[in-house]
Amino acid sequence: MCGIFAYLNYQVPRTRKEIFETLVKGLQRLEYRGYDSAGVAVDGPDKTSTDINSNTIYLIKKTGKVKNLDEELYKKDSLDLDVELCTHFGIAHTRWATHGEPSAVNSHPHRSDKTNEFVVIHNGIITNYKELKKYLITKGYEFESETDTEVIPKLIKYIYDNRETDSISFSTLVERVIQQLEGAFALVFKSRHFPGEAVATRRGSPLLIGVRSKYELPTENIPIQYNSGRHKEGVQEKNSHNRPDCADSISPVGDSEAVEYYFASDASAVIEHTNKVLYMEDDDIAMVAAGKLSIHRLNRQAGEDPVRAIQTLKMELQQIMKGNFDAFMQKEIFEQPESVVNTMRGRICFDTNMVVLGGLKDHLKEIKRCRRLIMIGCGTSFHAAVATRQILEELTELPVMVELASDFLDRNTPVFRDDVCFFISQSGETADTLMALRYCKERGALIVGITNTVGSSICRETDCGVHINAGPEIGVASTKAYTSQFVALIMFSLMMSEDRLSHQKRRLEIIHGLKVLPELIKNVLALDENIKTIANELFESKSLLVMGRGFNYATCLEGALKIKEITYMHSEGILAGELKHGPLALVDKDMPVIMIIMRDACYIKCHNALQQIIARAGRPIILCCKDDPEVTKNSYTTIELPQTVDCLQGIVSVIPLQLLSFHLAVLRGFDVDCPRNLAKSVTVE
Ligand code: M6R
Repeated sequence: MCGIFAYLNYQVPRTRKEIFETLVKGLQRLEYRGYDSAGVAVDGPDKTSTDINSNTIYLIKKTGKVKNLDEELYKKDSLDLDVELCTHFGIAHTRWATHGEPSAVNSHPHRSDKTNEFVVIHNGIITNYKELKKYLITKGYEFESETDTEVIPKLIKYIYDNRETDSISFSTLVERVIQQLEGAFALVFKSRHFPGEAVATRRGSPLLIGVRSKYELPTENIPIQYNSGRHKEGVQEKNSHNRPDCADSISPVGDSEAVEYYFASDASAVIEHTNKVLYMEDDDIAMVAAGKLSIHRLNRQAGEDPVRAIQTLKMELQQIMKGNFDAFMQKEIFEQPESVVNTMRGRICFDTNMVVLGGLKDHLKEIKRCRRLIMIGCGTSFHAAVATRQILEELTELPVMVELASDFLDRNTPVFRDDVCFFISQSGETADTLMALRYCKERGALIVGITNTVGSSICRETDCGVHINAGPEIGVASTKAYTSQFVALIMFSLMMSEDRLSHQKRRLEIIHGLKVLPELIKNVLALDENIKTIANELFESKSLLVMGRGFNYATCLEGALKIKEITYMHSEGILAGELKHGPLALVDKDMPVIMIIMRDACYIKCHNALQQIIARAGRPIILCCKDDPEVTKNSYTTIELPQTVDCLQGIVSVIPLQLLSFHLAVLRGFDVDCPRNLAKSVTVE
């Protein structure tokens, strides 16, 4: 996921080398989020210039690690590293590719023009960038990257070039830019026209500002200046009612004005410099000019607090990276209400019920004409294919094979030119999946990737694909990538059936189900304490069975994998229809059996399986729909879940099992994020 870091020193002499070191260190602190390229923008001029204040901006961008960028900075012979810059603003970024491959030109900062009048770093996705780009091209702007971000510096230059007055402020320009943007963003701007000034803003993506001053800060709160967004420059509308009696901006007091500001998408990049931070809110526009920080609002919301508080962080670096969570896996489980939204963002229009996967649309005709779909993956990624197979068969009306990559290769499975092969992988680097991809490619099939890592080997070698946008997954146990893969495959089935009249009703119920999915996930996450109590009863067991069928069979496989992977307990996912064919022999009074009984076409059959477990004195723990009288009338241990469309229920029902495995592992005293013998990315066969 992208990372933002920017540093402004005002009346604090720093050599250019020190500024580079600060920027690079900031980016290194964000490395854990995952990225594929990095870049910085700093002030020129070069060594030969005698005018230290001539306003040039240097851009340095590199693919790969921050280390590569760091090395590159010192290769810039023309930049005098020892020169002291009393006031300076530098911006830096790590990019996790979404629009366009990882490359220097696609990485940030992006610029307005070849002379770098405005440069910007961005986290998030601009969903209306195509329209903006088209418009700006008609106005003569030339684009150099494939990114959505590049419209932003072009747009600010366009507004600047067409300004009605020369005294327009930097923050007003930014305010006008964000009025045109749709999607999610955290942005930091730098400009040759406003040396030593910084403007930052956000909507939907986090951004904070760290403040460091040797002198006491005059107030813990920064008053907000309310702008209508349409005012003329210099006529700022002040909110006289509700406005506290305090200064308009923050600046240090004492006999020096020296102050440093740090802008970051994540507190981990700031904490070593200062623990005084201000978290920006949506549509806040923060500006630093002449060392003073002020906050403007794009539109004032009723009842809004008119100040932003400066908080004192009391956390350690590791803690900040994990937020309030004990482990990355736990954090990633709790991120799922947002990660599924990120998977859908810009792809589903809930007003028109249209689903467009940009990476597949040019191949849609070919996919619709194919002989069969083959879905290939390993571990959790394979389970995402199992989970969505039934709805894919239903909505595409094509035969769908789901394959474990290693087994697919062992069998020398016949593959034909008119097959479409999907390769599902969080890392995009799994060796078995990659080998299977090459095997299918040699046989002329269309190769589609479903990955979370743009620029990965699988991404590069596919003909087309979908990036699931779940954000980096650090815990070895895959959680949010599974639910995002699930959503991506569901969206594919919706896109394939758009023109089938007979499927419209079904499509609409699924689209509505996706719309409310984040809320349902939140409801499930709220059951965490209940699940922890169940974990307390189970953690000393030797074995744990997870049983279900139909749309929830994949949940059993995935739940059992999570349990064995991080708790080292024996766990099996069992198809309830197979119970009498063997697994029933395992059931006795000591065997806990998690039964998934949701209200779908398999409901009665699942109840029959439950009766058989009870008849053998087994101990069921039942995942069921909320207030299901058939279950709740008995005194079983239950986890009651919100009901959704049958084919989406697996997203809701897997989350309690993710949480359960997490709590079991903690109770058993194991390292949740790094289970023994396992690696996050399995790059060997
Ligand atoms: O990166 P991939 O999705 O290709 O990885 C495949 C499996 O190695 C992976 O899903 C593994 O099963 C997980 N650690 C399970 O939590």
